[in-house]
Order: sequence, then C-alpha cells, then structure tokens
Amino acid sequence: NEKKNVFSGIQPTGIPTLGNYLGAMRNWPLLQEEYHCIYSVVDLHSLTVRQEPANLRRQTLSLVALLLACGINPEKSLLFIQSHVPAHAELAWLLNCYTQFGELSRMTQFKDKSAKHPDNINAGLFCYPVLMAADILLYQADLVPVGADQKQHMELARDVAGRFNGIYGDVFRIPEPYIPKDGARVMSLQEPAKKMSKSDENPNAYILLLDDADTILRKFRRAVTDSEAEVVCREGKDGINNLISIYSIVTGKTVPEVEHEFAGKGYGDFKTAVGEAVAEALRPVRETYADLLKNKDYLADVYTKGAEKARAIAGRTYAKACKKLGL
Ligand code: ADP
Ligand code: NA
Repeated sequence: NEKKNVFSGIQPTGIPTLGNYLGAMRNWPLLQEEYHCIYSVVDLHSLTVRQEPANLRRQTLSLVALLLACGINPEKSLLFIQSHVPAHAELAWLLNCYTQFGELSRMTQFKDKSAKHPDNINAGLFCYPVLMAADILLYQADLVPVGADQKQHMELARDVAGRFNGIYGDVFRIPEPYIPKDGARVMSLQEPAKKMSKSDENPNAYILLLDDADTILRKFRRAVTDSEAEVVCREGKDGINNLISIYSIVTGKTVPEVEHEFAGKGYGDFKTAVGEAVAEALRPVRETYADLLKNKDYLADVYTKGAEKARAIAGRTYAKACKKLGL
C-alpha cells in the first residue's frame, strides 16, 4: 500500500490572505505524514497578470519562506518553484492541444479575471487551467488540496487527463480535488457574498498573513455584518456566518460552541474575539517567517533540492507523454 500523491500550488502574487491560509496553506502540512506531498510556488501562473520582475522574485522567495513557516517540512514534503521545472510549461503545451476552446471559455475564473483586466486578456490567462492540469498530472497526483474556487479547474484537469488516457493508454493518474470541510470559502469582510481576495480594491476586505495584530483587530472590528444582534449561524447572515466559520477554525471550537459562547453578547464583542483569535493563530507563522527570511542560504537550499527532485518525477511523466505522441 504505497502512499498516495498530493500536489498543490499557490501563486506568488503578493502576501497570501487568510482565505489562502484557511482554504489551502494551513492544510498542506497536515497531509505530510499520510501522503507523499508535493507543493509548488507557481510563478508561471502569476505571469497571466503583469508582474514587476524584482517584485516577483522577492514574492516568490517570500512565499517559500511562508510555506515553511506554515509547517511544510522539506524533509517530508517536496517544495519547489514551478519555473525551475521546465516540464510544467512543456506538458502544458501538449495538453493545450487536447483542450477545447469551448471548454476553456466556460471557466468562470477566466470570465471574472478578464472582466477585471479588460486591457490584458492574454492567451496565458485563457490557458491557465491547462497549465494547472499539467502541474497536477506531472506528479501523478491522487489528491489536490484546494479551495472551493478551484473545483471547475479540477474538473477540467480530470477531463483532459481522461481524454488523453482514452487515446494513448494510461499516462496520467486522474486526480481528485480535496476541498476542506471548513475554510474552503473564506468570504470578504466587506462584501461577505464575495470570496476574500487580495486583489480586492478595499484592503479592509481581506486579512493578509503578515498583517500585525492591530491591523487584524481593526479589520475584523470593521467587518460588515447585519442589522440583527445575534451571533448565530443562519441563512442570510453571510457576514456573521463567515466570522463564525473563521473563529471556529482558528479556535477549534464547533459552531454550536461558538454560538453558545456569544449568546447574549453583541457583535462588537464577537468581532473583537475573532480578531484576537486570528491574530494569535497567525503570530507563530509571522514569527517563524521573519526568522526564515534571515536565512536566504537555507531557503535556496530548500528550493534547489526541491527542484532537483521535482524535475526527476516530472521528467518521467513528460517523457512518457512525448513517447506516446511520437515526439
Ligand atoms: P488567489 O486565489 O488568492 O489568487 P491562488 O490562486 O494562488 O490565490 O490560490 C491558492 C489557494 O488558495 C487555492 O487552493 C485557492 O483555492 C485557495 N483560496 C483562494 N482564495 C480563497 C478563499 N477566499 N477561501 C478559501 N480558499 C481560497
Ligand atoms: Na485562486
């Protein structure tokens, strides 16, 4: 009974939000014992939006440090930077030729992102899900821990892999999304019907992993709720539901326990408690991150060794696909 493979990636497009953390990063280290885990900072994906080169380089390194600070152990998991492994771009090209224009046109993230950047609707943005499929399929991943927003991209990866296998035989393992029960969809603190995103114009809408305690507290105190006064999880209370969910994950308390704790108390007390609990949960991540960033040699060692191992695994899958195609 061989261990199953886990693959996931995150873009170096700025400091991750509490949504990235609760929906993805926080869960990654938890899988290290049970699975063979491969995690990547997917810098090629970030090029779909204009990046300033020095800034991209800094953010990539910073994200490696943050993932380690979240608990990824390079002795147990493989951690690497996507562009260091050429097979990602290479397999993406092959898979592009097995992906239909129509199916990519239906991707809701493409529609959202092209509406947000109407001046730069590039082919990379359109083909983004194919690169993501290549990322996953190269490592023969069984499970892909992602937030709920990635469900549609995961379906596409499965479809493309199945189509390729259908023609050429078993080249790719068909991956399953692994969406957390809690935290899969952390919402904006200002418009709780929208997902929390660092590209939101309003910085009060999101918590960044490196926000200090005062900033975190201030943003939660300003969180949009409703005109009632009851801390209960109920249909139509998007703001409160989101805060209860966040509080429940970071404290480990169940939703009924949270409701009980705040029965008869106002939203003010509750928001303060959520802010304090989140600040406390993120404090060790922030502290470890600061220490790691001082040790650039160690970080370089981690991602260099990670890339070597990743190139070996990815190279095998890519060679297999090439052979089947007559390349
Ligand atoms: P972003 O979506 O912030 O640009 P990525 O695309 O790099 O960042 O996503 C990294 C991971 O974070 C993915 O697994 C994604 O599903 C997850 N994620 C992003 N936003 C949220 C959110 N608001 N709630 C839960 N998970 C999220
Ligand atoms: Na995303």
